[in-house]
Amino acid sequence: MMIGVSAPWQLRTGSADDLDIVGPLWVAVHHQHAQTMPELSPYVSDDHTWQVRRTLYEDLLTKPGTLLLLASIDDRVIGYGLAHIMAVEETWVADTWVTGKRVGEIESLSVLPEFRGSGLGSHLLTRLEDHLRAAGVDDLVLGVLPGNRDALRLYERLGYRPTWLYLSKFTGRD
Ligand SMILES: CC(C)(COP(=O)(O)OP(=O)(O)OC[C@H]1O[C@@H](n2cnc3c(N)ncnc32)[C@H](O)[C@@H]1OP(=O)(O)O)[C@@H](O)C(=O)NCCC(=O)NCCS
Repeated sequence: MMIGVSAPWQLRTGSADDLDIVGPLWVAVHHQHAQTMPELSPYVSDDHTWQVRRTLYEDLLTKPGTLLLLASIDDRVIGYGLAHIMAVEETWVADTWVTGKRVGEIESLSVLPEFRGSGLGSHLLTRLEDHLRAAGVDDLVLGVLPGNRDALRLYERLGYRPTWLYLSKFTGRD
């Protein structure tokens, strides 16, 4: 007989009060970006990336429907995910694809390096999707750097498909 093993982490809903804890987890995403696409260097500093991201999260957390999920082991936060809801007209989707009136965005997903590969990222993503679906939002988007192959594979396994590809030509750098 199979005996179920309970997850080694606990999940809870976060708020703007948790953003200091989230900072290092976002910086881990930034490091992943820089490591997987070094050809796009230079990247902004850790302080700068978090300053910009924090402002975005503060704004998103004032909107109805936004969910910040924190995963922890023994009171140490080791992963998080954040999802929010947009009117389709606010997105790049509206002029091209038929969808519902609202689109959910998986804004962020991060698991600290030493805890990756044990299912937490998939679990956080599924919980964010459950939240959006419960809010009546079934059309979802998320952004990923094309060089972040591990994350891309995870997203594709869960049903996401490449949809809109931005190209860049950063010639304004000193
Ligand atoms: C993407 C991420 C959230 C997945 O979390 P996770 O807990 O490792 O994910 P799961 O264990 O549920 O899923 C395993 C998948 O994650 C990726 N993965 C597994 N171990 C990994 C590791 N040590 N490092 C990076 N990715 C790993 C792989 O795609 C793996 O799929 P595979 O079995 O086909 O190799 C996590 O790797 C992470 O935080 N990466 C850095 C930040 C990032 O890229 N976030 C997404 C930005 S769009």
